[in-house]
Amino acid sequence: MSAAPSSVPAPQLPHFDAPAYRAAFSRINGLVIVGEGMADRHFRRLAALLPEQRDELLRLGAMEGRHAVDFAGCGRHLEVRPDNALARRLLAPLHEQFLEAERQGDLVGCLVIQCLIIECFAVAAYRLYLPVADAYARPITAAVLRDEAEHLNFGEQWLRPRFAAVAERVEACAGRAVPVALAMLSALEADLRAIGIEPQELVAEFVVEFQAALEAIGYGAREARRLLNRLTARALS
Ligand SMILES: [Fe+2]
Ligand SMILES: [Fe+2]
Repeated sequence: MSAAPSSVPAPQLPHFDAPAYRAAFSRINGLVIVGEGMADRHFRRLAALLPEQRDELLRLGAMEGRHAVDFAGCGRHLEVRPDNALARRLLAPLHEQFLEAERQGDLVGCLVIQCLIIECFAVAAYRLYLPVADAYARPITAAVLRDEAEHLNFGEQWLRPRFAAVAERVEACAGRAVPVALAMLSALEADLRAIGIEPQELVAEFVVEFQAALEAIGYGAREARRLLNRLTARALS
């Protein structure tokens, strides 16, 4: 007895041992590992800024540290060495914006950068990677995806009851950080395609996630869409 055919065609899986795949994976894997490590440090800094939620933030940071270890394992499994130097260069502007917000005592800015923007990107990217990941990376990615949703939720829960007081700073921060995040992505366009992710789809998925996050903290749907249109107008153009 044969199984009923699925209406959704299975995606064409990349050739995991092809040199072009491995070269692209080394850069994407580096970005993921360094990005997860950066998220770990951001959560530990947030824990110092928000002492009443210290334990929770340290727990979230520890999850990011585990993600970095698990994704490093994915690179090892494919025998690919991650390009961490490139990743550090690409992530530096976003990290700098987080540190600058911290120096200014702008807790809202720190939360928007890590818990909304970085987490929305992570959710969008891992969701699109999941169907084209190798068999070793797939369950790891699925588990990480569930964790990132929890991190996003932390930011939303903190910002929502303070919406009126923080909206202006959310917009100012997003206005600086979203274009920087999109520029990082456009630097990896060819590599994303090589591992099976369409860059425009990633931008679209990020927009969906960020729109939902903005609505979760108190924006109306139209207002959120207008803000996002402004921020993503030049994405990958
Ligand atoms: Fe993570
Ligand atoms: Fe996260």
